[in-house]
Amino acid sequence: MSLREDLLAFFEEHSEEYISGQTLAQSFGVSRNSVWKAVNKLKQDGYNISSVSNRGYKFYADNDVLSSDKIYGYMTEKAKQLKLVILKTTDSTNNEAKRMTAQGLTENSLIIANEQTAGRGRLGRSFYSPNDKGIYMSFVYHTELDITDAVSVTTAAAVAVVRAIVKNTDKRPQIKWVNDVYLDNRKICGILTEAVSDFESGTTHNIIIGIGINMMYSDFPDDIKDRAGVLNVKELSRNRLIAAVADEMMTLTDDLRNHSYIDDYRRYSMIIGKRIDFYKNNIKCTGTAKDIDENGGLIVMLDNGSIETLTSGEITIRLKAESEIAAQSSELNLE
Ligand code: BTN
Repeated sequence: MSLREDLLAFFEEHSEEYISGQTLAQSFGVSRNSVWKAVNKLKQDGYNISSVSNRGYKFYADNDVLSSDKIYGYMTEKAKQLKLVILKTTDSTNNEAKRMTAQGLTENSLIIANEQTAGRGRLGRSFYSPNDKGIYMSFVYHTELDITDAVSVTTAAAVAVVRAIVKNTDKRPQIKWVNDVYLDNRKICGILTEAVSDFESGTTHNIIIGIGINMMYSDFPDDIKDRAGVLNVKELSRNRLIAAVADEMMTLTDDLRNHSYIDDYRRYSMIIGKRIDFYKNNIKCTGTAKDIDENGGLIVMLDNGSIETLTSGEITIRLKAESEIAAQSSELNLE
């Protein structure tokens, strides 16, 4: 372990206590000056550490600085195969992933940023990504998949996020078809999957799965503040949740032809059995969401009695509010 890792591990165990430079230097067999330099580097990386003369250093327990040491520490062996890249800021981790792939990145990787200045969502929307408040990350898988299996990746990613949250908190998030995760009727996570594919063979060269999770409260912009939510679990650090999602993703992407995760997708669906509107080719259709098929398609019974399976993530669906169903008046727009 490097001095930095040693110090971090030590500080974690002795957070909120003053520890003298002398004690640290003796513990790790280095000079006080080396300790001072390493602590300064940790501070530059964003760790909240105070230094008081005659008392020493105090590491604050609420530190939630993105750290590859910590993420690897929480991961299972399988997920540790991922190359981790942590950035303080970037335009978009999906863009970063594309650039790195174009420049020769060949390992399966996870690119994480503390902030995105131009985070992207589906349908050309933006994804609000302020610093320190959320998880903004993109998995890069170099894999040849049929385009259909590549589409399943998005469905699998939504299940991975929900499983990771359920295993690490007492929250019960839900999935809104096709790939949004909601908590208490507010969107806390969006997923944007992009693939570099070969249309002649119908297979992908690599696939980029961008996941954004709102972890802590922030000033959401006006256009989303009525529907955006946060996970808000103080005890759960971003590092731990990133590792948990990566673990789930590694399990799910091991065999994308095995669609057994669809059972969890159904279990956590917020729309099965609900009245919905959707727009297809600019025509409004109304019906009841009946089920999710094995490929993640949404089976809808239209009001004219016909059954339609929606497969395109480009379709915008809107859950009808209870009051609307009763009175056909006001609307709750969850999109
Ligand atoms: C959506 O809600 O429409 C999808 C949002 C996807 C956001 C994530 S954050 C990490 C990755 N980088 C991006 O620019 N977008 C995705």
